[in-house]
Amino acid sequence: MKAIPYGRQHITQEDEKAVIEALHHPYLTQGPKIDEFEEGFAKYIGSKYAVAVANGTAALHLCAIAMNVEKGQKIITTPITFAASANCVRYCGGELVFADIDPKTYLIDYNSVRKLLEEAPKGTYSGIIAVDFAGRAVDLEKFRKLADKYDLWIIEDACHAPGGYFVDNEGNKQNCGNGNFADLAIFSFHPVKHIACGEGGMITIDNKDLYERLLHLRTHGIIKDNTGETYQNSIEFAGGKGEYPLWYMEMQELGYNYRITDIQCALGLSQLKRADEGLIKRRQIAEKYFNTFEKENFIKGQSGVVEGHAYHLYIIEVEDRLGLYNHLRQHNIYAQIHYIPCHLMPYYRQFGWKEGDMPNAENYYKHCISLPMYPTLTEEEQDFVIEKVKQYYE
Ligand SMILES: Cc1ncc(COP(=O)(O)O)c(C=O)c1O
Repeated sequence: MKAIPYGRQHITQEDEKAVIEALHHPYLTQGPKIDEFEEGFAKYIGSKYAVAVANGTAALHLCAIAMNVEKGQKIITTPITFAASANCVRYCGGELVFADIDPKTYLIDYNSVRKLLEEAPKGTYSGIIAVDFAGRAVDLEKFRKLADKYDLWIIEDACHAPGGYFVDNEGNKQNCGNGNFADLAIFSFHPVKHIACGEGGMITIDNKDLYERLLHLRTHGIIKDNTGETYQNSIEFAGGKGEYPLWYMEMQELGYNYRITDIQCALGLSQLKRADEGLIKRRQIAEKYFNTFEKENFIKGQSGVVEGHAYHLYIIEVEDRLGLYNHLRQHNIYAQIHYIPCHLMPYYRQFGWKEGDMPNAENYYKHCISLPMYPTLTEEEQDFVIEKVKQYYE
């Protein structure tokens, strides 16, 4: 059996064609494919606007800037996530406060967040970064009510969940990142994610003013205004007569080069067309894992079959996780661990976080292992993975 990774991109001939076409276009970056990808993605997710950027981490950084995170502010997030979800706060000088996870869903626990908020004077916290971990959607309707009560913003890290959703109190499907509850949401197009661009990220948003600010922040904070109305320097300074000259532009706040190329967006657009197909396949794989492992007593917990789950990952919890991990590797199956709790990374320990602070997250970390999950995983390969997992505990 050839190597089976935990996640893998799927590149078709159509994808290749799209990339080659983009390579022959006059614009390799800042061209029309970026707008097309943004429009297509916003439509898919159900948000008003989308801003494509260099990667998911850049998307998070820009969101933290857009929410005006600064030194002295406290932001709540989950310890079971990729470090980037937390790091964006540090880029802006803010402080992370971790809230424990729900041991059943593996998502940030509502009651832990509520407790933090209730036990501190109002104004102590500025925002929540909610992560649709593994592809399972956070119930943001519930979190929005809590956030409103304490005047908090919400950034939704939906890197694992394009196409995922939760069902709201009225029975409506609420797509991850659709802008109905979170102020901003972000996605990643790293190859192991649902849509692969090589590197790439997206911010989805409903607020027009913030959307425009993000466009500027993506390119150094530079504004190009055909009307000239928002320029701060005078026409005379700019070198014009009666109106601003055509070359003129202004850098009005500190931004970054977080642009994505047209080549990457052409690939993303082509992949977006197959996004639903991929989700169907991921859900079939999850169902098979679930139905098989449900009967096994070595399984202590698993992702399960959950409506709206986008299954970036399929996780099982077991005893002797190291033994299973090594056994699978011996058979060319490269399972992975998601994640080492963020609060116990040496970088975050320096702020006082220690073992025992997040019992559910730490217990989860001792047992979790992510099994291969990607649309091109064949039935034969999945059967092989299942066989080898079971074999270890026989
Ligand atoms: C939950 C989560 N947030 C953020 C990121 C960062 O995305 P990127 O790798 O595109 O910078 C990732 C990527 O691995 C992720 O899994």
